[in-house]
Amino acid sequence: MIPYARPSVGDAEIAEVEACLRSGWLSTGPRAQRFERELAASLGVKHALGASSGTAALHLAVLAAGIGPGDEVITTPMTWVSTANVLLHAGARPVFVDIEPGTLNIDCRRIPEAVTPRTKALLPVHFAGQPCDEDALATLAKEHGLLLIEDAAHALGASFRGKPIGTFGDATMFSFHPAKNLTTGEGGALVTDSDAIAARAQRLRFHGIDQNAESRFGGRGAGAYDVVEAGFKYNFTDLQAAIGLHQLARLGEMNARRAQLADQYLAQLADVPHVTPLERASYPHVNAWHLMVVQLELEALTATRDQVISELKEKGVAPGLHFVPLHLQTLYRPMVDDPSKLAVATDAFQRILSLPLYPDMTDADVATVVDALAGVVRRHTRGSASAASRRAGGGAA
Ligand SMILES: Cc1ncc(COP(=O)(O)O)c(C=O)c1O
Repeated sequence: MIPYARPSVGDAEIAEVEACLRSGWLSTGPRAQRFERELAASLGVKHALGASSGTAALHLAVLAAGIGPGDEVITTPMTWVSTANVLLHAGARPVFVDIEPGTLNIDCRRIPEAVTPRTKALLPVHFAGQPCDEDALATLAKEHGLLLIEDAAHALGASFRGKPIGTFGDATMFSFHPAKNLTTGEGGALVTDSDAIAARAQRLRFHGIDQNAESRFGGRGAGAYDVVEAGFKYNFTDLQAAIGLHQLARLGEMNARRAQLADQYLAQLADVPHVTPLERASYPHVNAWHLMVVQLELEALTATRDQVISELKEKGVAPGLHFVPLHLQTLYRPMVDDPSKLAVATDAFQRILSLPLYPDMTDADVATVVDALAGVVRRHTRGSASAASRRAGGGAA
């Protein structure tokens, strides 16, 4: 089976994990600190704080930026549920704005109509690794006095007009889940240039302990500590960093391979009717190519997307589904005033699937996937002999 994603783990990661285990220091320590320094330096940001997951990092970002009860945050429905769940955990309300039909990124032109006096922040997601329009987001944030918190779970290594994703928002989150462009097993990071956001996030990351203040219970270095607010256990460990340090060193190479594979997909999919890859945004950018999402032209097919996925699986290809939009989820449905305003996301959901894309894929794997997809689509093309014979009970063509 060719999976939709697979981590690329080399000997260096394995050796470093072994060294970490032998060092006796498994939790947060020197490797975690080194990873954070190297991540910050690679992006050119002041602070990088590792976290136990991308979700944890985003939760910290939202809280540290001061988002709380009564606040509304504008985001996209086409995302993993973490993006909105962390807002609920902070007591805030997610407000979903529809997406662009081609890129599936948030449609910045629709954001102004969603702004109210309670709106506190914009929370865009760089879907599949393609940057959102950072110029439009910055203008909107400035015009309406909003924070910009970015979910860049898919976008480590992406850039907009030559500047890395991670340098635009008040705070940005990256995920290091095993499917992501860089993995630490599980893990994530918050990056920011704000000393205040970094300091609060650092405190919340570890139980709300203020590590910088003189301890109320004795002198420095005595092991006493002072809890100043109810924080979390979201710290990033040396074991995670042992993997991450070598992933970070190889990120450019791994992302270049993703881009190469994506180019092959685009060239080969051009010959497959009724299958459309995501549109390329018109502004200068570098796509991190986290996911190879395509949309099916269902009007021309006799099969649903789910049927296409299950037939691909029969052929040894296991696509992903990114995402079931949040406004269709049981939890979020009652929070949406007018679902007709999210019609593009609702429609895209019926059409999307994520083709396998990961650095260790071979060129032959891409050809296998495209062949399998072309076969399934041909078989279900309206008016084709095979589709007619299937309708007449003729079985597989
Ligand atoms: C868009 C998006 N946001 C947030 C997350 C959460 O990241 P993590 O799984 O590291 O908690 C993910 C990935 O799972 C994601 O795809």
